[in-house]
Amino acid sequence: MPLLLLCSTTLHAQQANTQSPSPEQFRPRVHFHPESGWMSDPNGLVYLDGEYHLCYQHIPFDENGNLPWGEMYWGHAVSRDLLNWQHMPIALAPDSLGYIFSGCCVADLYNTSGLGSGEVTPLLAIFTYYDPVAAAEGRIETQSQGLAYSLDKGRSWTKYDKNPILPNPGLADFRDPHVFWHEPTQRWIMIVTAGKEVHLYASNNCLQWSYLSAFGSDRGSHIGPWECPDLFPLQVQGSGETKWVLLASVVNFTESPDKLATATQYFIGDFDGTKFTSDQRDTLWIDYGKDNYAGITFDNAPNGRRIFVGWMHSHQYATAAQSYTTRSWSGAATFPREMSIVHRNGAYRLTSLPVKEIAELYGKQIKLKKVQTDKTLTLSDRIPFDKAPIEMNLQFGDTDAPNAAERFGIRLKSPSGEYVSMEYDKSHDMMVVDRSHATYVQFSEPFSSIQRVPYRPIEGRSTWKILIDAASMEFFVDDGVLVFTNVFFPGQPFDTIELFTDGGYVTLEKGRIIQLNSIECRPVASAGNK
Ligand code: FRU
Repeated sequence: MPLLLLCSTTLHAQQANTQSPSPEQFRPRVHFHPESGWMSDPNGLVYLDGEYHLCYQHIPFDENGNLPWGEMYWGHAVSRDLLNWQHMPIALAPDSLGYIFSGCCVADLYNTSGLGSGEVTPLLAIFTYYDPVAAAEGRIETQSQGLAYSLDKGRSWTKYDKNPILPNPGLADFRDPHVFWHEPTQRWIMIVTAGKEVHLYASNNCLQWSYLSAFGSDRGSHIGPWECPDLFPLQVQGSGETKWVLLASVVNFTESPDKLATATQYFIGDFDGTKFTSDQRDTLWIDYGKDNYAGITFDNAPNGRRIFVGWMHSHQYATAAQSYTTRSWSGAATFPREMSIVHRNGAYRLTSLPVKEIAELYGKQIKLKKVQTDKTLTLSDRIPFDKAPIEMNLQFGDTDAPNAAERFGIRLKSPSGEYVSMEYDKSHDMMVVDRSHATYVQFSEPFSSIQRVPYRPIEGRSTWKILIDAASMEFFVDDGVLVFTNVFFPGQPFDTIELFTDGGYVTLEKGRIIQLNSIECRPVASAGNK
């Protein structure tokens, strides 16, 4: 959580308003979310022995039904397929060194830490301790990095007895360590927030760390502190070339609703084992929607896959949204996304798309034949199943033709009057997502936003993939080179889907709309704090 929020002490659940829709209307069907309580940043994403572990920033309700702000735990869940999840007992709870802020997990395959024994691969959790006592005394150095380990595949966790493993060097913002094994130099590398940039450290055993370098003071967005960084190699599609990707989320509460206030920027460059460098001058974002923050990627994922999960909500309004809408829980994870690098218009771009495992959820589907029209078509009339959760795949053509529409897109509408839309605005060369009328009650001013991103389809063609769940839409343009993730809270579920056009013809080359079967988030068998 941005430290700004730590000033407020408790969040009171709002009295249920009889006019309000049931929270169950907003329960995700195909997205991981907490059984109860608060979820924000994904933490400790790691794969080991057939299991994906997803930890996350978590606040359980206290005995008075409040969420005590700032008192962060690590919630934990496990999946074998990235789709269905088994909730596990809380992995890490606050202790005398502080609350448990964000971080990562790694599989210590060579037992470099010496914490393993015998056959078992230790899982190491490297996280930030936030010390509320230091904060109350007005000290700058509230944050340091700690370690915990598990010798039973994440079923139980033990805090390292010499924590912190990396004390604070005198920085107000020193948090969210992300660690990976760097094969060429045979050592661990840590990337960690250091104010409005990141610092890199190295270690042979994950326990003692030495400073390497810094990145970011002269690049990217500095609207606020950098948070939850990640650094990883990826092959450029269609070539043998490998580039390195650096992710850094950045937050600023006072940004206007139509600007990104909580978002994740990326840099593509090189890493020589000590220093990350990049020629990239543009500030680029992995997602231009309002609800994908603090995302990181899995350590040790099979087959070199780079799988990303973000927090599908925003610090700007998540507490207000919870009070009015979901009440017994807050937050969800984005659908897991596979990342890739493409070369587009002479520049490297990071892409993300739902992981291929989503096909396991496919149910009924309809195909849309080629149609060229200057009228609005109600696609939902042709869909003989619920309008959420679904995946829509649409391929548009002729966007450059002389009679092509000035604007066209998809609009979701509810019987109670709310709507959201996704469109290509040819007259301004923009992709536009309008989430300004997406809630039954205005619980927070910044929620109401219209997102505009300069964009032009290549050679007049554009493919759209849209995942619609009970309270979210994830919109992937042209193989995920542009992504918009947004949550919504209409009074009644969106049940009408329109293909709209304005000022000319839209050409839908083909389309496929697929029903998604719900995932399971199985309840924790036996809860308990460690
Ligand atoms: C990002 C963040 C992190 C911090 C955590 C605390 O959302 O602010 O920087 O570690 O949340 O919950």
